[in-house]
Amino acid sequence: MAVTREMFSDVMVPNYNPAQMVPVKGEGSRVWDQAGKEYIDFAGGIAVNCLGHCHPAMVNALHEQSQKLWHLSNVFTNEPAIRLAKKLTDATFADRVYYANSGAEANEAALKLARRWAIDVHGEQKQKIIAFNKGFHGRTFFTVTVGGQPAYSDGFGPKPGAIEHVPYNDADALAKLIDDETCAVMMEPLQGEGGVVPPEQDFVKQVRELCDKHNALLIFDEVQTGFGRTGTLYAYEQLGVTPDILTSAKSLGGGFPIGAMLTTAAIAEHLKPGTHGSTYGGNPLACAVSEAVLEVVNTETVLEGVKQRETMIKEHLAAINDKYNVFKEVRGMGCLIGAELTEQFEGRARDFLLAGQEHGVMVLVAGASVIRFTPSLIIPEADIKEGLKRFEHAVAQVVG
Ligand SMILES: Cc1ncc(COP(=O)(O)O)c(C=O)c1O
Repeated sequence: MAVTREMFSDVMVPNYNPAQMVPVKGEGSRVWDQAGKEYIDFAGGIAVNCLGHCHPAMVNALHEQSQKLWHLSNVFTNEPAIRLAKKLTDATFADRVYYANSGAEANEAALKLARRWAIDVHGEQKQKIIAFNKGFHGRTFFTVTVGGQPAYSDGFGPKPGAIEHVPYNDADALAKLIDDETCAVMMEPLQGEGGVVPPEQDFVKQVRELCDKHNALLIFDEVQTGFGRTGTLYAYEQLGVTPDILTSAKSLGGGFPIGAMLTTAAIAEHLKPGTHGSTYGGNPLACAVSEAVLEVVNTETVLEGVKQRETMIKEHLAAINDKYNVFKEVRGMGCLIGAELTEQFEGRARDFLLAGQEHGVMVLVAGASVIRFTPSLIIPEADIKEGLKRFEHAVAQVVG
């Protein structure tokens, strides 16, 4: 069957508005569309393809596992799931892992666990969940309500309750709202979707202290920042703060759907048999791929390389800005970089994205005024240079 982009509107629910071209092939950090046009991929499937497209380690792991065992459900466990959990707990603060299929589901599990823990340990009154304006935690009704973007959570009727928000990087506002009835604070260690907003110095430490003072759990949503994206396996390692619960997805599977919630043994205990679950969670194919990704990503070479790529990309963007004066600020950590547009171009990030596609480079936006770059963690230097050259042409086109 010949497939065209036009068919999309005839057969798909219109909640997405994908690009006009249809990609058909990817290799490393390059992608080709139906017409054979080549793109440098700085989007990486929205911070997912941490090893680029079709990395041999992932292809081999998937191929090997596909000939052994595809699915069993959680009525049985499986070797890849246990092996990956052992490696994840060895590499982090966590003692226990719960598997999901996406970031939203990992966060849903984290929030339900926090509520259950609070009820078990402190009683029914300890329900309040505090999160941050412009945060993003997924699209289930619980997670989208905890996310601080009413545009995403409004218009669906009554929301889950006892959820409140304060501005990110405002520890005083959190101090005013948090109390002994707070069960958890959920945050991204660096806000991704909300505009690539890093935490200010000491903010995260202050959040941790406030949680400790009021016996509230601290949940780090590392769905976007995790699995090497910021230059350490998880961003918390660089912030000097350890969360009680951490969620991971996106790069965790490198392109194969998987999510995970990591926590301590004492907290994990409160999700007893039958309290929560997922048919596909811990699927052997997903876990085998994730294990292969972890083996490559969690090495000094790759993590150091992320920092080098950050410097390189930021330098190139600064050089583009010297010529065209389009960015107010270039910020972010590792391979999660945002370029905020000046007042003159406010609200026009999508124009740069579209011009980029025309010139053969895929970028993302994070809100209306921030262009976001989330390339593969191992993107070759030559692809960074070529991609930013193409991006410069796109900038020139938008500037006119
Ligand atoms: C920080 C964060 N949390 C959660 C999610 C939701 O993940 P998923 O789309 O896999 O459900 C995202 C997706 O962009 C995210 O960036």
